Amino acid sequence: MEDLNVFTTVESLRERLKKNGESSSVALVPTMGALHHGHIELVKKGLSLANEVVVSIFVNPTQFNRKEDLVNYPRTLDNDLKLLKTVGDIIVFAPTVNEVYPSDYREVDLELGHLETVMEGEFRPGHFKGVVNVCKRLIEIVQPEYSLFGLKDFQQLAVINFMVKSFNLNTVIVPCEIVREVSGLASSSRNYRLSERQLDDAIIINQLMVLMQSLAKRFNPARTKEIALEYFNKGNLELEYLNIVHPETLLEIDTWVSGTRACLAAYCGEVRLIDNMEIVPQSNDSEK
Ligand code: PAJ
Repeated sequence: MEDLNVFTTVESLRERLKKNGESSSVALVPTMGALHHGHIELVKKGLSLANEVVVSIFVNPTQFNRKEDLVNYPRTLDNDLKLLKTVGDIIVFAPTVNEVYPSDYREVDLELGHLETVMEGEFRPGHFKGVVNVCKRLIEIVQPEYSLFGLKDFQQLAVINFMVKSFNLNTVIVPCEIVREVSGLASSSRNYRLSERQLDDAIIINQLMVLMQSLAKRFNPARTKEIALEYFNKGNLELEYLNIVHPETLLEIDTWVSGTRACLAAYCGEVRLIDNMEIVPQSNDSEK
């Protein structure tokens, strides 16, 4: 697409960004492509914050713990570029694996503690190490004033915040609200793999989250989870985890705290879906 700024090498991207001058600000939206309107909201937010937005499109091999997921990951660059063009003048960075991880690349091994052992960490071993490596590398290449991440991947955001702090990276992490379909299902490229019937089945995830919000006004976290599980098990999805967690530590809680999150992963057929929602309890002296 001739009038889009697409760069495939670090050098050409750096050259382009240098043209902006000192006072210009850049926002980075890291993605793996297969863009949908969830990604686009991040791009729009980036445009509202900075003079230029760089969208990286890179299917990062190091964050896939199952080879078949990497092989099957949708690669839809032409469509992605078309979609980005509707939003504005975006700089696209679409590098090869060798460009991101050259032969002299030294892997970063950041100790993430329980951030990489709970929830996604437990079910996708090594995943967050890959995320840390690619995001650190992208931030170092682009040197953005702002880096935008979706709350859809709540644990990823916690990992990124931890990484930025640990390495003292000079970028502001901007969390962006979860974009949902009309049905309430969180937008995801994985939704395209669901049949009509599965799309209906998957609505139970959002219903569950909303139910938990109302349960939290009467019950403690343990009882809320118990009732929620009874409800969820009546549906057609297979649960991997449902955790009610502290928003920063991501550890399960016994009593409500401000910003409590319910996080879930479940299979709808072959498709693994994740979602989360803030749970706002009324008080901690609710019925048990
Ligand atoms: P990807 O799944 O492509 O997501 C890119 C960004 O879009 C992430 O920050 C994700 O949280 C956000 N996003 C996806 N769906 C969303 C939705 N429905 N609402 C709001 N935000 C949404 O996440 C990754 O790629 C990769 O792990 C990456 C960070 C690019 C590193 O490789």
